[in-house]
Amino acid sequence: MKVIAAIAEKGGVGKTAIACVVAAGLRLAGARVLVVGLDIQPAAAAVFALPHPGVSGVAQLLLGEEVQPVAGHLDVEVLSGGPALDGGDIRALRSDELRFGLQRLADRYDTVVIDVAPVILHLHRLALDAADLALVISDAQCMESLASLAKLIGEIATAKQRQAYSPGEVIPVINKVNRSHTLDCQLADQVAERYGADHTIIEIPHANIVPTAIARRRPEMALNAHSPVQQPFRQLIAQAGQLIVRSPEWSG
Ligand SMILES: Nc1ncnc2c1ncn2[C@@H]1O[C@H](COP(=O)(O)OP(=O)(O)OP(=O)(O)O)[C@@H](O)[C@H]1O
Ligand SMILES: [Mg+2]
Repeated sequence: MKVIAAIAEKGGVGKTAIACVVAAGLRLAGARVLVVGLDIQPAAAAVFALPHPGVSGVAQLLLGEEVQPVAGHLDVEVLSGGPALDGGDIRALRSDELRFGLQRLADRYDTVVIDVAPVILHLHRLALDAADLALVISDAQCMESLASLAKLIGEIATAKQRQAYSPGEVIPVINKVNRSHTLDCQLADQVAERYGADHTIIEIPHANIVPTAIARRRPEMALNAHSPVQQPFRQLIAQAGQLIVRSPEWSG
């Protein structure tokens, strides 16, 4: 089982949308997928299955309780988040507790896609420690989010050097790129220059199909033949898929 986290310090950059499209694409490629909403909002989990009271969530998994993920759209299963994730008992957990919690589910899924909350640092640490692949996302239209992309990638590199919590691989994603803006055309080069050639940088255009697909709770619409974001999403899904196929439990 491989764990992919969509993460950014900033809000609104596209973490949930990207997590959903990647999860749908991996599911359509045959992977058994669990979506984890590591967020106080239901977000990605609610795109696949609307949460209802009494259904177990990621907070219970983190606290060592039995969880029963629910199956939703495309047979993607979900564990949703909620306000409990901001509670003192979750804040007090060690960074490796999500990784260990997910290992209890390892025979049931080929991949787990985590939609991570913005800003809440203890959730970031849990996600980064659990992730085999972190999609570190920024919004081309927001200078602040580009600066925080730099900060987060730098922090991950430092954590790796110190052998603290850090994901196996990182892919920087520049979302909502508008190719008719000269500055947007230079962003990938700037990011590449800064982080070296070992990072494949994915650029996703700004396209209305993304909010439409998420609002209709059909994220796979972003992958259809006429979608302007089909190609970069397929690239992301292929990279994530390679990671899964290399994992011993892959049954696809
Ligand atoms: N490539 C894109 N083109 C156009 N709109 C997009 C794109 N990616 C995401 N969006 C839209 O931007 C908005 C914010 O995206 P999303 O909710 O996925 O961000 P987020 O990072 O998860 O936000 P939050 O921090 O609030 O959890 C949504 O309406 C989403 O559909
Ligand atoms: Mg979100």
